[in-house]
Amino acid sequence: MSKIVVETQGLTKEFDGLYAVNGLSLKINESEIFGLLGPNGAGKTTTVRLLTGMLEPSSGNASVLGLNSVTQSNQIRERVGILTETPSLYQRLSVRDNLDFFAKVHDIPKEERDLTIKNLVKQFDIADKENEAAGKLSKGMRQKVAIARAIIHSP
Ligand SMILES: Nc1ncnc2c1ncn2[C@@H]1O[C@H](COP(=O)(O)OP(=O)(O)O)[C@@H](O)[C@H]1O
Ligand SMILES: [Mg+2]
Repeated sequence: MSKIVVETQGLTKEFDGLYAVNGLSLKINESEIFGLLGPNGAGKTTTVRLLTGMLEPSSGNASVLGLNSVTQSNQIRERVGILTETPSLYQRLSVRDNLDFFAKVHDIPKEERDLTIKNLVKQFDIADKENEAAGKLSKGMRQKVAIARAIIHSP
């Protein structure tokens, strides 16, 4: 039997009379690649924000890795990596300083940060851009930095 890693039951989010998510129930298994598709405004981003506890549901509930999305959101955010369509990087900071900043946010100690960043920029083939400002990179390179950021804490 596979382990369920994401589960929602009747998950609902209402914004002033508008149901952004309405009674969503789903189960996602470990190792499963799950696509949640829908047109603009269908409620996909709201669902992700509910899962990670950035928003509280109007009703229903959600859990990630067995952790409750409302009461254990800090633990969830330590264990998941999220890459949105508009990744926020500090445009004037270098690739390295961006990654170091987000690693610090996750309380990763200095030596481990240095090693992790070194490995990530190598893995993503952007080691030669390490000292470039994020704002000066091509879109594809920025996206690579954003992925590196999303996995810097080994989610
Ligand atoms: N913070 C908010 N306040 C009010 N309405 C919101 C908010 N966030 C999203 N919505 C509305 O909820 C609906 C779903 O949005 P969203 O989850 O961003 O859709 P998707 O990511 O699928 O394009 C949209 O109608 C959007 O305008
Ligand atoms: Mg969206």
